[in-house]
Amino acid sequence: MFFILVTATPPHFETLFPQGSVASRAQRLALVRPERSCSAWITHAEGSDLAGCPAESYLHPSESGQAAAFRFAARRQTFLLGRLAAKAAVGAYLAESDWTRLELTHGVFGQPLVNYPVSNDVEVSLSHSGGRAVALAFPRECPMAIDMETVDHDRAATVKSELQFLPEEREWIKSAAVDERAAYVLLWTVREALGKVLRCGLTCPLELLAVDQVKPVADGLWESSYRNFSQFKCLSWMRADLVVSLTLPKMTDFQACLRRG
Ligand SMILES: CC(C)(COP(=O)(O)OP(=O)(O)OC[C@H]1O[C@@H](n2cnc3c(N)ncnc32)[C@H](O)[C@@H]1OP(=O)(O)O)[C@@H](O)C(=O)NCCC(=O)NCCS
Repeated sequence: MFFILVTATPPHFETLFPQGSVASRAQRLALVRPERSCSAWITHAEGSDLAGCPAESYLHPSESGQAAAFRFAARRQTFLLGRLAAKAAVGAYLAESDWTRLELTHGVFGQPLVNYPVSNDVEVSLSHSGGRAVALAFPRECPMAIDMETVDHDRAATVKSELQFLPEEREWIKSAAVDERAAYVLLWTVREALGKVLRCGLTCPLELLAVDQVKPVADGLWESSYRNFSQFKCLSWMRADLVVSLTLPKMTDFQACLRRG
């Protein structure tokens, strides 16, 4: 028995990414648009999940071949985590419990593609960092993407040296009373999530993806707008050790339909 709790504002990190089995963690996000509403599904996978989920229970035969070809165990683990999270999100979206029927491939820019015999409406975005993966399944009509980064000294230093920040971004880092390292990493993930929506990743001049405003929505939750892509916005969940950013069309209200019980 469970019931659905609809939250008017995006939920806190721990609520959006609950514990439990991988399949039970998937959360439905209601995307309320002026013309019509739709749904996306979000979930995550952690290293410890791999022991309880044999690869043959979720990999498509073509993916099993890919997994076997990795020379380094760490790369194989990252691949498996990403596939496990993606299958859980796409499986929830399509109400398909046999995840081996879902095949994930890549497009010419490395973007993930879902092959599923019954529907071609679903897209997926995924991200791995620090032994975890997050995935978001969403309808093709509503382009979205997700990015996650672990926050640590080295990551923050790399971001600081690689990104040319806009004055608005610098001002936010100074004025937002948050951990400076997490703030740098947040600005990186906000840009990277937009790069994924646009399919260019981080191969364009990174200033094109810059943020012109970051405002607080709730404790640990921030909303950014983009200087050059005003049709998108980004929601970021920030903890001292981890940031998850989700880019979506601006005219979209985001509600979580949380499963309880
Ligand atoms: C997208 C990108 C920023 C991701 O960087 P990363 O450090 O691997 O970070 P993450 O773990 O957050 O994301 C990885 C996932 O992003 C997705 N991804 C890769 N390229 C993508 C793109 N162009 N658009 C959208 N998503 C993409 C993939 O699903 C990938 O996971 P997978 O390989 O296990 O399926 C980076 O790969 C990039 O800039 N790619 C563009 C490359 C490109 O344009 N190549 C030209 C063709 S050769």
